[in-house]
Amino acid sequence: MRLLLLAAVLGIALAARVSYDGHKVLRVNPTDDQLALLMQFKNRPGFSFRNEPRRTGANLDIMVSPEQHAAFLSFLKEKNIGFHVLFDNIQTLIEAEDRRQRSMSKVPRAISFDQYYRYDEINSYLEELAAKYPNLVTLESIGKSYEGRDMVVIKISSGGSGTRPAILIDGGIHAREWIAPATALYVIYQLVENNAANSALTDAVDWYILPVLNPDGYEYSHTADRMWRKTVSVTPISGCPGVDGNRNFGFHWNEVGASDYPCYEDYAGEVAFSEIEARNLRDFALANKEQIKLYLTFHSYGGYLLYPWGYTSELPPDWHTLQELAADASLAHVNAGGNPFIIGSSTNALYAAAGGSDDYMKGVAGIELSYTAELTNTYYGFQLPAELINETVTRFFESVRVFGRYVKENF
Ligand SMILES: *[C@@H]1O[C@H](CO)[C@@H](O)[C@H](O)[C@H]1NC(C)=O
Ligand SMILES: [Zn+2]
Repeated sequence: MRLLLLAAVLGIALAARVSYDGHKVLRVNPTDDQLALLMQFKNRPGFSFRNEPRRTGANLDIMVSPEQHAAFLSFLKEKNIGFHVLFDNIQTLIEAEDRRQRSMSKVPRAISFDQYYRYDEINSYLEELAAKYPNLVTLESIGKSYEGRDMVVIKISSGGSGTRPAILIDGGIHAREWIAPATALYVIYQLVENNAANSALTDAVDWYILPVLNPDGYEYSHTADRMWRKTVSVTPISGCPGVDGNRNFGFHWNEVGASDYPCYEDYAGEVAFSEIEARNLRDFALANKEQIKLYLTFHSYGGYLLYPWGYTSELPPDWHTLQELAADASLAHVNAGGNPFIIGSSTNALYAAAGGSDDYMKGVAGIELSYTAELTNTYYGFQLPAELINETVTRFFESVRVFGRYVKENF
C-alpha cells in the first residue's frame, strides 16, 4: 500500500516535472541605459532574470524560452546590446545533474560533499549527529513548513556556563539555490565531526544552523521544477503558488524590489510574514536575540558578501565594521583558492530589495552583524555541478572561520 502510494506520488511528481528544453541563458553586460531597456523583460512570460545587477559593469544573466528567443535576439541587435550565450540549452545541465544525483549511493554512509542531499537525508544526518555527539549537538524543530515539514535547527554548543555569544546561519530560503543548504551542511560537518580540529570555533561560541529554511520549495525544486525559487503556499491567484521568502520579512516590507503580483518570482506575499517559514525563523531569532551576535544567510549566486540595508541605499551607522569583517572573510576565501567577494550593502552592491531576512535581523531583532552570502561564481548559476560542491564549501568555510573568530573575540 505504502509502496503503491509512493509510486503514485513519484509518478505524479515526475510526470509534472517542468522541462527547460531549449531555454538559453544569455549574459549581457549592460550599460545603465541598456539595463533600463532590459528591465521591461523582467517577469515577462518566457524570461527569467537569474540575477539583477545594479552596479554598473556587472553581468546580467537572462534565461529565455525557445518561443521568445528570436524576438529577443532581434531586440538586442536593434538596441545594440552585446551578449554571449552562456548556456545554449539549460535542460542539458539539469539532466546531467539528475543523472549524477541518481547515480549517487543512497546506502547509509559517511556524509560527502559530492552530491546534493534531499531534505530527508539532511535531517537524518542531523539526527545521526545528535545521537553520536550528545554533548555537542541538540536539535530543535522551530516549527513546521507550509506542507508540514519540520524546520530543524541544529545547535552546536560545547556547553560552558552562562550565555555565550552565538551565530545563526540558514540556507535555502530560495529553493533552487542548492549550494546554500550544502554549505550549511558543510559548516555543521566541520564543527561537529571535525570538532577536534575546529574546537577553537566552538569553545566560546554557540552555533544555530538551519540548513533548509524553505523545505517545501527545496523539495519542489528537486521533484518538479529545478528553477523554483519561492515557497509553495497558496496565493490569491490559482496556478501561481508561492511567495519569495526573502521579500516576506516585516521590515520596510514591500517598499522596493519586490512585487505585489503572485505570479512573479519576487512576490512579497499578501502581508509581511504571510509565510510560516519566515515566521518560524523570526520567532526563533527573537527568542534568542540576546545571544545571537551574527547572522549569516546563504544564497547563490554571484560571489557577494552583503550587509544591510536592502531597502535603502543609505548605510547603517556601523557599516564600517560590517565592511571590514566581510573583507577579512573574503581574504580568507581568496587564501583558500577562491575568488574575492564583492562586498557592500545589498542595495549598493547588488540591488534594492526590501523584506529580506538580513535587514530584519539587523533592523528588528537587533543582531548587529547581519550578512547575506551569495555563494559561488557566476558561470553555472543555480546549477552548480555537484563536482564543484567540495571546493565551494571548503573555501567558504575559511570565511565562516573568520566570522566565528570575530564573534569569539568581540563578545
Ligand atoms: C575537497 O577540497 C579540499 C580543498 O578545497 C581538498 O583538500 C579535499 O581533498 C577535497 N575533498 C574531496 C573528497 O575531493
Ligand atoms: Zn537567493
